[in-house]
Amino acid sequence: MELTNAEKFEKERFVAVKGLIEPYLLTFLGSYYRQILKGRQSQFNRDGTSLNASGEACADTVMYTLRSRIEAETGLDLYPTFSFVRLYKKGDVLRKHIDQAASEVNVSITILASDPWPLAMHRGDEVINLELDPGDGVIFHGMELVHEREKFAGREHLQLIVAYVEKGGANQEMAFYRMGEPTYAPTSNKWGPGKKFMRYVADVREKRDASN
Ligand SMILES: [Fe+2]
Repeated sequence: MELTNAEKFEKERFVAVKGLIEPYLLTFLGSYYRQILKGRQSQFNRDGTSLNASGEACADTVMYTLRSRIEAETGLDLYPTFSFVRLYKKGDVLRKHIDQAASEVNVSITILASDPWPLAMHRGDEVINLELDPGDGVIFHGMELVHEREKFAGREHLQLIVAYVEKGGANQEMAFYRMGEPTYAPTSNKWGPGKKFMRYVADVREKRDASN
């Protein structure tokens, strides 16, 4: 008898889910991040070829709204921890690593992919290459399975990562990344009125008060 996804996650330590993100949401996210990339002002940290962001509102919202689905797929009760978006370009690699405690249950979702770029999961001596098309996701025990991607030969690959910890588990103190209740907390917030604008507002007020 075929295993359920929750049984697979328990036994095999990961489960790949086709179409984890539904088509409209996938289109929305791809389009949204393209706009963000084009924009000159954004909260994304840029390093020239790639971008990444954590605590970004849209990615956080996916993390919160996907929670019940991930609970169903894993059979666990979960707390969200953090979200992360990264655009990879030609020549980028994802070095062999395991994840931190906040990624006890890690979900990696492909949003845009100009070319295939397998995610290699190491389980003991076994290496499993996962091909994830846009919309597909892999849910895995991030602290256990070493994972990597070899040098990317294609043009672009956009990944959305949402992470969780098990309620009542060893890492539950990482819930909401130790920031209490769900919160939108960009790491490099460049939004909001700048000093120039605030000076302009103060000038207008001053002139108005003087003329009264
Ligand atoms: Fe990772």
